[in-house]
Amino acid sequence: MSPTNDNVLLSVRNLRKNFGGLKVTQDVTLDMRAGIVTTLVGPNGAGKTTLFNLITGHLHPSSGDILWMGESIVGMPHWKIARKGISRTFQDLRLFDQMTVEENVLTVMEPGSWLWQPGGKAKMAQRRERVHEILVRTRLVDKADVRAIDLAYAERKFLSLARIMATDSQMWLLDEPASGLDRRSYDHFLGLLRDEVEKGVTVCIIEHNLDIVVGISDRIAFLDQGRLLADGDPQSVLKDPHLAAIYFGEQSA
Ligand SMILES: Nc1ncnc2c1ncn2[C@@H]1O[C@H](COP(=O)(O)OP(=O)(O)O)[C@@H](O)[C@H]1O
Ligand SMILES: [Mg+2]
Repeated sequence: MSPTNDNVLLSVRNLRKNFGGLKVTQDVTLDMRAGIVTTLVGPNGAGKTTLFNLITGHLHPSSGDILWMGESIVGMPHWKIARKGISRTFQDLRLFDQMTVEENVLTVMEPGSWLWQPGGKAKMAQRRERVHEILVRTRLVDKADVRAIDLAYAERKFLSLARIMATDSQMWLLDEPASGLDRRSYDHFLGLLRDEVEKGVTVCIIEHNLDIVVGISDRIAFLDQGRLLADGDPQSVLKDPHLAAIYFGEQSA
């Protein structure tokens, strides 16, 4: 399948999610076009992670629809949605702590064939080669045999990114991938992300750091209390005094 005529990969239509009486997603409509970096911003508790969970099938909406290249994916299990080409990272990373760095990346790659099948050994060698290349780019190659639990904080964030790089997914949903990174690490992160976008990955990223937001976004979607308050080019959204009051009011609270 390919994007729809107007290049929309993912289309969120009148999406609602209630947890009991709590309205966490309120009538959100949002299109994500191929090749465009959309940044989701908004105060804590705005419903950003919930929106990711709804898209990826980790939660099911109360109503509304989600279309992937024109096909509804609502109700599909999360692994099936991932196979269609939508991958995500988690705010709490969810690495396999007791596995090595290399194993963490290998586990997300689909084996073309298993070791005991014809060509299996060659396929495994190819996968290892690809993992190596990704570990070089994420600067984790010296840590390939280290268990994930023994990595430093920034290294864990990059391992999470390495895992999504290995999926070959068309769409990435990144949940605060740069939070807590030092300046040098986030420059590295931004460079990697730009390269991937250039290669054709479509990204939706949840981010608080305004340098990163400005540095990477083609478009900003602003969520507050489950509602989409704005959706447009970065300059106009960031300049809106009403949104700034909500955003910075919450940040300084
Ligand atoms: N599984 C859940 N059950 C009940 N409430 C939830 C659940 N997940 C999230 N929420 C609530 O939904 C709101 C939005 O959460 P979340 O999407 O994590 O916000 P954000 O990522 O923007 O900080 C919060 O009030 C949170 O407490
Ligand atoms: Mg969140």
